Amino acid sequence: MGRLAFCVMLVACAADPPPYETRTDHDPNGTGKFYCGREIALVMGHEAAGWLDRPEREEEERPSKLHDLLAVKAGQTVADVGAGSGYHTWRLAKAVGPTGKVLAIDIQPEMLAIIKEKADRKKIKHVEGVLGKIDDPKLPAGQVDLAIMVDVYHEFSHPYEMMSGIVKALKPGGRVVLVEYRAEDDKVPIKEVHKMSERQVIREMATFPLKHVKTHADLPWQHVIVFEKK
Ligand SMILES: C[S@@+](CC[C@H](N)C(=O)[O-])C[C@H]1O[C@@H](n2cnc3c(N)ncnc32)[C@H](O)[C@@H]1O
Repeated sequence: MGRLAFCVMLVACAADPPPYETRTDHDPNGTGKFYCGREIALVMGHEAAGWLDRPEREEEERPSKLHDLLAVKAGQTVADVGAGSGYHTWRLAKAVGPTGKVLAIDIQPEMLAIIKEKADRKKIKHVEGVLGKIDDPKLPAGQVDLAIMVDVYHEFSHPYEMMSGIVKALKPGGRVVLVEYRAEDDKVPIKEVHKMSERQVIREMATFPLKHVKTHADLPWQHVIVFEKK
């Protein structure tokens, strides 16, 4: 990125709220809508739910390691925002146990139907599907210990509005965790607009009362960027 483009991006992201911008010249996998200098990706449709549940995902992304890092505790309330087919929802449900709760949020009713069918089959009662809106996660205020987005944030058509709702939903000291494919690494085999750099994530979170506490960089393809509500 050129120096001028970098300065323009910094200025755009310093505004509160940062403005959205539409460009005609853009990545074919993107929406043409830009936020803080980043192009927003197209939403992955429910037709691709099978890709989310592919068996080789364990080897490629090491979700078990991710869940060790998260250290979710029994009894907690976790929001799995952009839950998709529930790949991470079941692991979170196991960690919080029956005294806790997982709110599985998605904007596609078809994804929530997959989650409900699996929850019924597994007889899991502490997972609640929530149909969100593109600009509202529909979360209760002040009740969430952890809001996690795995491969989701870069798809939000309204990242500012979504993050405002998510931060409001956190308890004091609650965590927001973004798991994104590393844009810094050319070897990660994911389309460019579906990746995010750590620097970009931190820049976009700076508008909110969040403190960056840690970035875990030891998963094969993704970084795990952890924030705490101030
Ligand atoms: C690539 S999938 C990832 C699903 C899941 N987190 C996983 O890792 O298997 C992204 C999901 O985010 C959802 N999504 C996109 N924008 C959203 C929004 N504003 N609110 C909630 N979910 C959203 C999509 O519908 C899709 O199911």
